[in-house]
Amino acid sequence: MKILGIESSCDETAASVVEDGRVLLSNVVNSQIDIHALYGGVVPEIAARSHIEVVNPVINQALADADCTWDDIDAIAVTYAPGLIGSLLVGTLAARTLAVLKHKPLYPIHHVEAHVYANFLNETTPEFPMLALIVSGGHSQLVLFRDHGDYELLGQTEDDAVGEAFDKVAKILGYPYPGGPSVARAALAGDPQRYKLPKSILKCTHSGPHLGMAHNSDKEKCNYYNFSFSGLKTATLRAVQREVDVDFTFPSHELAARLNDVQRQDFAASFQYTAISTLVDKAERAFRDFSPKSVVIAGGVAANQELRRQLSERLPLHIDYAPMNLCTDNAAMIATLGYYYAQKKDPVDPFELEVIPSLSMTKTTW
Ligand code: KG4
Ligand code: ZN
Repeated sequence: MKILGIESSCDETAASVVEDGRVLLSNVVNSQIDIHALYGGVVPEIAARSHIEVVNPVINQALADADCTWDDIDAIAVTYAPGLIGSLLVGTLAARTLAVLKHKPLYPIHHVEAHVYANFLNETTPEFPMLALIVSGGHSQLVLFRDHGDYELLGQTEDDAVGEAFDKVAKILGYPYPGGPSVARAALAGDPQRYKLPKSILKCTHSGPHLGMAHNSDKEKCNYYNFSFSGLKTATLRAVQREVDVDFTFPSHELAARLNDVQRQDFAASFQYTAISTLVDKAERAFRDFSPKSVVIAGGVAANQELRRQLSERLPLHIDYAPMNLCTDNAAMIATLGYYYAQKKDPVDPFELEVIPSLSMTKTTW
């Protein structure tokens, strides 16, 4: 079964053809990074307009690269949630129109859930129960998958996502957008122990075992597997201010100019070390408590080498990592999840499909 995936939830317009949820036939990604870099972050209006310009050529390229015509395509899978509303509308409108014109079944896909499915294109397919650490610019969460479409949220960030913290710290240190890769690159040359930064500690006070966020009631909240990154970002800012001997009223965009290259690299390495070990602490906790058969990482921050190093060092099982280009936003992950979804669920009516800009992954059974 060949599925055409379409993704446009943020600043990448992507299309891909995947066969049987396993064989990647094409993977086209048009990134808008150069445009948004001028503004230091994604501008939603500009993102939506850019998607409109390239969505058709990107889809045609994905078909051509896969050596497919429309006759070869069995279904279309498209990201309908979560993301920027204007961006989501362009991809879903293209998918809905094509589903009607070409008479193809249409499957709506959750972007964050799909990130996990980049790992199903690895050489060995992950086994269930599977613990997924999903870390991107908008999400940081631990999800336990019992099967395809049967998962529950164990923990998530209580404030900033980890990728967002990388992006903000990059701004403080004067590294270019997107911040994650540039902080990671600078950290390679830095000393991760030079600046001691605090890890956030979230106390869980309820009675009984820690079952995770999906089991929260009005009375009891389990934040045992949760993260918090805004404190670390502020601690990094304060440490930079101390280092250059200014107080908190000093404009933060002028701080980087007062640091030398070694200080900037040491801050990048110290921040990265603390942020990543916070993620790995919680992943280790969940691994111990739920004994999954496999662990996968997903989302843009899964491209981070320090995360891979620490996980491999601290978890007692082999982890297969997805290639870097499938960690950041792409449509191959959409087509892959689309395949599993199509095995269990009916397609949606293309005239009815609506986007949902904020839809979290709490608990689901297909
Ligand atoms: O999944 P993604 O491409 O888009 C979202 O759905 O958010 O993730 C983008 C995020 C950005 O915050 C970016 O700075 C971060 O992933 N990122 C990284 C690395 N590569 C991308 N963070 C740390 N280290 C990296 N190597
Ligand atoms: Zn993403």
